[in-house]
Amino acid sequence: MANDEYILGHYANVAKQYGLSPQSTIEDQVIRDAETDFFKKAISKILEKTPHLHRPLRILDAGCGNGITIERLSKVFPRTEFVGLEFTPELHELCLQRHSKLENKKNITFIKGDLREPHSFQGQSFDIIYSQRAVINILGKQKQVQALRNIASHLTEDGHYLLSESFYETWSSLNHARAEFQMGEVPISKHNLFLTESRLKTLEKCGMTEYHHNLGRHFLSTHFYLTRVLHPQISKRGDRAIAPHFVKFFTEGLGPNIGTYSPLQFRWFEKN
Ligand SMILES: C[S@@+](CC[C@H](N)C(=O)[O-])C[C@H]1O[C@@H](n2cnc3c(N)ncnc32)[C@H](O)[C@@H]1O
Repeated sequence: MANDEYILGHYANVAKQYGLSPQSTIEDQVIRDAETDFFKKAISKILEKTPHLHRPLRILDAGCGNGITIERLSKVFPRTEFVGLEFTPELHELCLQRHSKLENKKNITFIKGDLREPHSFQGQSFDIIYSQRAVINILGKQKQVQALRNIASHLTEDGHYLLSESFYETWSSLNHARAEFQMGEVPISKHNLFLTESRLKTLEKCGMTEYHHNLGRHFLSTHFYLTRVLHPQISKRGDRAIAPHFVKFFTEGLGPNIGTYSPLQFRWFEKN
């Protein structure tokens, strides 16, 4: 319960500070844009693979925040049905505000619920469920396992789970790179418990297989190396004040996806 109060308090503040802004829950828009792009490309591929589906695709955004990703994706996939499930009442309230302004509102529903609780899924099944830094907000290992099980069991027979979540293993690899320059570990926020490869195996136990896609599992690796390793060596302004021209210049020059330095990974699981 103490964990829940912490998460709810944190996101009530986020809702107040950022409202409907895309910076809600993530200030770094390189990260948000990369995540949205991954979901967009994966959904397009899934649509190509299911030409015989005689009904709209159904997608759940698990932990949808203020609903920004659903708004963006629904513009690209206007015939798809989207459901956004959110735990924090203040963020859910923002979703309802967003909903009233959306053009294709009939295809979009926002519900309040908890990924740890099967009844929150309201007995619905989805062709795709995606989560964006939401499972890591569940501050208990067993509770994360429960959420992953719920996700797997609310997918259709050949459904897909797309995730942009942070992993302990690649956070460690980033810290090794920092240690070469005598820098300490990147702190993990108190509202996050990073996933581990072993906990992710829950999905396999639920009959899912990882699809090794070519959209860049470590797409943000170059970005994290530049912003958390190289940039602090050059900037005199400290770790957090990132120079956007510097980062853009080197990311474009080097290309994304170099190494395994991004705690955030883009993964894709399919139900067998
Ligand atoms: C890092 S935020 C990301 C939100 C949104 N996906 C975005 O990109 O802005 C994680 C979200 O998960 C929600 N969340 C945390 N625990 C949850 C739970 N048990 N069930 C459903 N949502 C949860 C939080 O309220 C928060 O909105």
